[in-house]
Amino acid sequence: MFNKNVIEKFKTFSTPFYYYDLDLLRQTLDTLKKAADKYGYKIHYAVKANANPEILKIICSYGFGADCVSGNEVLKAIECGFHADKVVFAGVGKSDKEIIAALKNDIFCFNCESIQEMEIINELAESLNKTTRVALRLNPGIDAHTNQKINTGLADSKFGIDFNKLEDIVKTVLSLKNLQLIGLHYHIGSQILDPEPFKLLCERSNEMQSKLEKMGLHLDEINLGGGLGVDYYNPDENPVPEFEKLLDMIHENLDVKSGQHVHFEFGRSVVAQCGTMVSKVLYIKPATQTNFAIVDAGFTDLIRPALYGAYHKIENLTSESSQTKKYDVVGPICESTDVFDKGITLPETRRGDLLAFRTAGAYGEIMASQYNLRELPNVYYSEN
Ligand code: LLP
Repeated sequence: MFNKNVIEKFKTFSTPFYYYDLDLLRQTLDTLKKAADKYGYKIHYAVKANANPEILKIICSYGFGADCVSGNEVLKAIECGFHADKVVFAGVGKSDKEIIAALKNDIFCFNCESIQEMEIINELAESLNKTTRVALRLNPGIDAHTNQKINTGLADSKFGIDFNKLEDIVKTVLSLKNLQLIGLHYHIGSQILDPEPFKLLCERSNEMQSKLEKMGLHLDEINLGGGLGVDYYNPDENPVPEFEKLLDMIHENLDVKSGQHVHFEFGRSVVAQCGTMVSKVLYIKPATQTNFAIVDAGFTDLIRPALYGAYHKIENLTSESSQTKKYDVVGPICESTDVFDKGITLPETRRGDLLAFRTAGAYGEIMASQYNLRELPNVYYSEN
């Protein structure tokens, strides 16, 4: 919900644009920090959700680390102030160039997804006369009950190493002289609202820990990844995710030995609600079943509905009509998937009206493209 002054300000901005409410971002970070500090949990913000430098600087000021999935994310995080010794680097396909950049910056840890990857990191570390810390990303075989396009913890997913192979893999890693195995890493998927998969993840982690103990091995780091979901349907009622509830539940279920640290990599839950995409209505085109509201943003600006069938609440910010109508809200791109939502009820909408696409702070601006040679969306903040 935006007040009149903010909407008046929006009228002066060039559309389409992303607007970030930095107060809400700070409120979210305060809540997360409090919940994590209660148990000494370590947070690495998942840069992939939103790598806008203004946002990164604010997140970094809370003392959090960064979870990166490319060499450029590693470099960007460090440039924006994250300490290299709080940077973790995951991804199934790290290139030699990316590995070298991360090694040169002495990051905290590589989250490794295959034996061959670890052999290459070992070789490259040796060539630079370094040893480096690695964690094994295990595929825990857990269904996160989320959108199948962002479900990562199942056996047939390309991510991680089968948890059943733990012992063999550990033996191989221990033979690689320039690697120091410090922990196990998991990530089961994204936009997870059901606590059950996280509980199963704790159980799997405990089981893996016992296996390591049987091998006489003690690893200090347990990284449970990200994945906490947000309320896309009621952004005003639930602006801040329930971090405390999740972390309390983890604390109750996770077996943590003395000297061990527990890490998380939250992305969406940190930034989703503070961001809104705003677009102007270009044309209204009546059709037999519906009315098309054709807006100046397309899937090049916010791809989640077209790519995942994801929902973003759409609000008309400027209509003064008391009548409502049904609309299909669509973009200008020459593709039939360029649809934000179908058959939604809005107050009567006209050319020039501003529509807000809520909960767009995560995987919004960062996934924008220039297809059709379109310009990238503009960006504005609540504080300037
Ligand atoms: N850690 C790893 C290893 C990941 O792969 C991800 C997300 C995260 C942490 C952060 O997860 P989060 O807390 O944001 O759920 N573009 C999709 C989401 C892709 C998520 C990819 N990995 C979307 O728009 O829904």
